[in-house]
Amino acid sequence: MLMLFLQIKLSPICFVLLWSCFCFMVESQCNRGCPLALASYYVWNEANLTFIAQVLGTTEDEILSFNPSIPDHDRLQSFTRINVPFTCNCLNDGQLLGHMFQYEIIQGDTYDIVANTYYAGLTTARWIENFNNFPVNSIPLGSLVNVAVNCSCGTSSIDSNYGLFLTYPLRPGDSLSSVARYSNSTSSLLKRYNPNVNFSAGTGIVFIPAQDRTGKYPPIPSSSAGLSSGIIAGISVAVIGVILLAIFFFVLMRRKKMKKASLLLDKLSAVFHGKSQKTASSLDAGNMGVTVDKSVEFSYEELAQATDNFNMANMIGSGGFGHVYYAELRGEKAAVKKMDMMASKEFLAELKVLTRVYHLNLVHLIGYCVEQCLFLVYEFIENGNLSQHLRGSGKDPLSWITRVQIALDSARGLEYIHEHTIPVYIHRDIKSANILIDKSFHAKVADFGLTKLTEVGNHSAPTRLAGTFGYMPPEYARYGEVTPKVDVYAFGVVLYELISARAAVAKQNVSDPDSKGLVAIFEPVLNKHDQNEMQKLVDPRLGDDYPLDSVYKLAQLAYACTHENPHLRPSMRSVVVALMTLSSTKGEGGPGTQCLL
Ligand SMILES: Nc1ncnc2c1ncn2[C@@H]1O[C@H](COP(=O)(O)OP(=O)(O)OP(=O)(O)O)[C@@H](O)[C@H]1O
Ligand SMILES: *[C@@H]1O[C@H](CO)[C@@H](O)[C@H](O)[C@H]1NC(C)=O
Ligand SMILES: *[C@@H]1O[C@H](CO)[C@@H](O)[C@H](O)[C@H]1NC(C)=O
Repeated sequence: MLMLFLQIKLSPICFVLLWSCFCFMVESQCNRGCPLALASYYVWNEANLTFIAQVLGTTEDEILSFNPSIPDHDRLQSFTRINVPFTCNCLNDGQLLGHMFQYEIIQGDTYDIVANTYYAGLTTARWIENFNNFPVNSIPLGSLVNVAVNCSCGTSSIDSNYGLFLTYPLRPGDSLSSVARYSNSTSSLLKRYNPNVNFSAGTGIVFIPAQDRTGKYPPIPSSSAGLSSGIIAGISVAVIGVILLAIFFFVLMRRKKMKKASLLLDKLSAVFHGKSQKTASSLDAGNMGVTVDKSVEFSYEELAQATDNFNMANMIGSGGFGHVYYAELRGEKAAVKKMDMMASKEFLAELKVLTRVYHLNLVHLIGYCVEQCLFLVYEFIENGNLSQHLRGSGKDPLSWITRVQIALDSARGLEYIHEHTIPVYIHRDIKSANILIDKSFHAKVADFGLTKLTEVGNHSAPTRLAGTFGYMPPEYARYGEVTPKVDVYAFGVVLYELISARAAVAKQNVSDPDSKGLVAIFEPVLNKHDQNEMQKLVDPRLGDDYPLDSVYKLAQLAYACTHENPHLRPSMRSVVVALMTLSSTKGEGGPGTQCLL
């Protein structure tokens, strides 16, 4: 009787077991990345710092700051390893930790060359193939190839004292003991982080605990250490135990009223089913219970304290939704944005996803606070916004090379949210005030994801247009049509701004010539292909200190980006390629720029 009962009622038990498997599976995947990981780059004979910084999307100064022992900045010692910083993201919908780099294919490149030469074994041809759809034997010249490099943010169940990891490609001659010696680590620790790896295999990658710039081993931040697999395993074991107990309880107590018992059990399983699905989806959203929520959630008190009670003296800017304050939060510089609105539930879910997006060219959202009103906490960017640099007083004029770099940086940030985040974002409010400049004059795009949020949060006015006059493409202003090409258009306007340093304003007052938008100013000139005429539009603060050819190319790129027909505008991906060509030729203008437009 009991056996029969158990057989019939096996499904809830199966379900419980399946669910616990699911839990362990999720644990081996990721729900958030970390801002820093290191790549151990083996310097092949022709590699130089410029090249390495370029392929790994960083700067020479950043690399040098992690390699104090490099003797001569101009000449890297070949056949040694250097550490290169990168951000470690949660890729492929939370399936793995890695960074998606991009590499522009030139004559003769194959995935194998890209993986083993340019990326020095940090990835494999196979692994690259996984993330690209190009025909393997004829990758078109100039295409941008996605290059995934695996990384680690630490494993709290192994040791939460290690939160920074080196992605280390094994090379012939390496062994467990040599790698341990190289990394100042012990063989047993390395084995625990890399179980079943043969360190003498000569290929493959391993993760080893690494030191930061100051020579310390940074621990896993305590908030994420709370997610230890121990706790998760503990919880799932406890849950399984409780459910099994409940089942046996019902079975034993209600054996006589079998029908009733089975009914109850059905209900129990239904309830349980519902619950577990909820757990799964909240895991997807990068929200593993209370600990993680807390890690990005600040209290009002903490923010008030960090901003000296939202003191006017701490105010660094204000925008359409409220004021921005400088803050010192938990020892880090931050910018706290006080929004004149409350957060809805959907809004919060979105915010949690946004805090997981890391990219060198995006201003990182550290967290938020929902007491009293909504506060967004961002990493602090030292050098103000692009609009201030172009038109503000008290700033030195930006050199032409810096302008091209800023264009490339912001294009990369935009391309990332258009193509590599999950979900993808359309910024919808690209403008020079939303492009922030850091202390080394690299640019980061601010505020992405917010227009979507304000729409989600604002049910009363769902069709309100987000965006700024002067940057809005015709299809958006007229029909509210939102595609990534809306950002491409606005980006084109920013390019015109970089050239001319004029404001983008396009007020409705057409009779006032000063209110003409930048597109209306540049278009007739570019239509005439008149370089001399265009020269008159160039920012006078540049003096004669610019290559006209390069300026003209940038203007043509802006022209393509602001095409009236959204389908004829390039994607951000091709914009990045065009700008890479422009910035590497440093003004002489190279072949290739034209054909990409
Ligand atoms: N993370 C940050 N670090 C440093 N300064 C910042 C940061 N975020 C914003 N600011 C400063 O505050 C200004 C206002 O920012 P905010 O995003 O609120 O307004 P906006 O972009 O001008 O307008 P809108 O709200 O319509 O997008 C920025 O232009 C910038 O100068
Ligand atoms: C750096 O290396 C790249 C690739 O090998 C090469 O094209 C470039 O000329 C080198 N630059 C310098 C300054 O040596
Ligand atoms: C990166 O990690 C994934 C998942 O663990 C693995 O399948 C893949 O082989 C790794 N790639 C490399 C280059 O080691």
